[in-house]
Amino acid sequence: MTDSLCDVGLVGLGVMGKNFALNMADKGVRVGVYNRTTEKTRRFIREEVNGRPITPGYSIKEFADTLKSPKTVLIFVPAGDAVDEVIGELPDVIGPGDLVVDCGNSHFKDTDRREERLREKGILFLGMGVSGGESGARHGPSLMPGGSEEGYTRIRSILEASAARVNGEPCVAYLGPRSAGHYVKMVHNGIEYGIMQLIAETYDLLSRGPGFDAERLSSIYEKWNRGELQGYLIEITAQVLARKDDRTGRPLVDMIMDRARQKGTGKWASMDAMELQNPVPTIDAAVTMRNLSDYQADRRKASEVLQGPSRTSIAHPESLPDGLQKGLFAAVLLTYAQGMSLLRQASLRYEYGLDMEAVARIWRGGCIIRAGVLEDIREAFRAQPGLDNMVLSPHVVEKLSACQQDLRGVVSAGVELGIPVPGHMSALAYYDAYRSLRLPANLIMAQRDYFGAHRYERIDDEGTFHTEWNS
Ligand code: 6PG
Repeated sequence: MTDSLCDVGLVGLGVMGKNFALNMADKGVRVGVYNRTTEKTRRFIREEVNGRPITPGYSIKEFADTLKSPKTVLIFVPAGDAVDEVIGELPDVIGPGDLVVDCGNSHFKDTDRREERLREKGILFLGMGVSGGESGARHGPSLMPGGSEEGYTRIRSILEASAARVNGEPCVAYLGPRSAGHYVKMVHNGIEYGIMQLIAETYDLLSRGPGFDAERLSSIYEKWNRGELQGYLIEITAQVLARKDDRTGRPLVDMIMDRARQKGTGKWASMDAMELQNPVPTIDAAVTMRNLSDYQADRRKASEVLQGPSRTSIAHPESLPDGLQKGLFAAVLLTYAQGMSLLRQASLRYEYGLDMEAVARIWRGGCIIRAGVLEDIREAFRAQPGLDNMVLSPHVVEKLSACQQDLRGVVSAGVELGIPVPGHMSALAYYDAYRSLRLPANLIMAQRDYFGAHRYERIDDEGTFHTEWNS
């Protein structure tokens, strides 16, 4: 009897849940599935299961009875209340020693709360970031689990079999206690927002500057994807730009409203970075630009009254793509640096004990921010596990030295043309601020002391000081 029971259960047969169930089943894992709407389960079994070892449960009790003990339940429902609802139902059918894994984009503070509640009941809990969209879930995502280490050990072989692989290494690792996994996924999404904004800025410069059409742009990104910028987001940009609209025959991208929506994980990264006082200016800029894109009516009015630069062309449009390619690479590298530095800070503050090399390793495949440069980032943290900021790694210093001038060129082109490039500007400012021996914060401290007697430190003495500035 036990032999026919399922190795793992999965709740939530949306596209991510269904695909992950099929993915695991293809690796020989016996999967029990449950969805609150039973028709969804019936349709899945009827149309997609195709003889794979997947067993339906049409009530939560029936579902739990299909699982072998100790039971493991993976939850694939939208982040938020739905996760609490599923977790609320589970204690009736599972108990101490069983394992629950939340595979959604949950806020890390919710994960901490859920982990604590379940731990009190003796139930093991993992918060696991799953990246790679529908196709990743089906063919190999990057998995970012955190929480109960005992729970991870129990399902490690299933996760390793289902995750993406790079050079034979699975893109999954136990990241740390409590919400470590969901925190890493949140920062992944912050970096995702940053890189998407940076790519969008180069697209804007090339289309509004020299006026390249979508077809030409597609071939530029396709070429970039064969160089040091190689990565999933560059690859799909080339494909997106090549796509024609079925209705009009025009490039589909030209028919899409310029209004960016968001579910918010990038914004959460930005918010927690502020909380931890760890600068992630390119991620902040990306969130801000998504927000600003929504002010369409205001933008229309402002476009009629606000002046731009007097010159609206650049001297050598043909050489623009090469400069942008290197400048974009610098900005992308600096965005990873900001995300990694936030992770390091969070690891100290929340006591996650993150292994930064492992984070870079599991991001090399399956996830949305996978890119060739992650191999270099991994190498930087392998060589110096305690590295505070990867911009200080000799390897990264060398790479940035080779393209920081081009980053300045991107910013200049944006300024000259009156095209906003806040992602590149913020990355450059981060770079220049980081390498500044002296920043003007001394003046800020003097001003604070002037109006609020907030005191300042001196460069030549210990302690804090106040000056009667008006005397
Ligand atoms: C991933 C994606 C995925 C999802 C985001 C999109 O790693 O597979 O990040 O989690 O597409 O939720 O986020 P926004 O809706 O906020 O852009």
